[in-house]
Formats: sequence, structure tokens, C-alpha cells
Amino acid sequence: MAYSEKVIDHYENPRNVGKLDDTDENVGTGMVGAPACGDVMRLQIQVGDDGIIQDAKFKTYGCGSAIASSSLVTEWMKGKSVDEAATIKNSAISEELALPPVKIHCSVLAEDAIAAAIADYRTKQSNK
Ligand code: FES
Ligand code: FES
Repeated sequence: MAYSEKVIDHYENPRNVGKLDDTDENVGTGMVGAPACGDVMRLQIQVGDDGIIQDAKFKTYGCGSAIASSSLVTEWMKGKSVDEAATIKNSAISEELALPPVKIHCSVLAEDAIAAAIADYRTKQSNK
């Protein structure tokens, strides 16, 4: 199966690979797995006091499309409010990366990871 140029670009030059300090109450961490293939994605956000996402990092143990999807969403999330980031849909990811049907679940994984990271951030904030 041929990967699109955008997938290959993100796969070869992934943006924002890494880890944020999960003990920081302004950091939200989402860890999700894809039942279809067992791939795992960790997505983290660092949120400022103004509610804007200042930084985002990921680590993905998975296929090229999953790595590209998580790389792409870290770029998209930075500079957005948490509420805006929560509206990022897998359809936008798969469209941007021109994912074939068999790879749609890789973009769903990224959407799930965003939701999990935001949920973790919000839980931490409400426990402050
Ligand atoms: Fe092979 Fe995801 S199924 S890497
Ligand atoms: Fe399963 Fe891409 S995340 S094949």
C-alpha cells in the first residue's frame, strides 16, 4: 500500500516527539490503544493559564499512519484553546493525510488520544 507524501513527510520528520512532565498539573496525558492492531499512542498537552495549548508532544508505537496522525495533531493543537483542540476530528486528519480506508482507524487513534489528554488535563484542573 502506498503512503501519501504527507504521511511519509511526518513519518520521516515527526514533529514534537517526546514527553512532557506528567506531574505538572497543567499537563494532560492521553494514552490510547487501537484494538484493530494493538498500536499505542501517547499524546500530551501543556496548557497555559489562559487555556491555550502551549506545547504538545507524542510518542507512538505503531504504523506510519498512526505516527503521521499524531505528529500532525501536535502541530494543529499548539496555539489552540483546549475547547478548540477538542473539536479536531479524525475525518480532518485522514483527509489531510489522504489516508486510505484501511488506515482510517489510525486517525481515530489520534482523535481518541486528543480526547484522553484533554480529559486528563480537565480532571487535574478540577482537582486543584
Ligand atoms: Fe501494523 Fe499498526 S497494524 S503497525
Ligand atoms: Fe493500526 Fe495504524 S494504528 S495500523
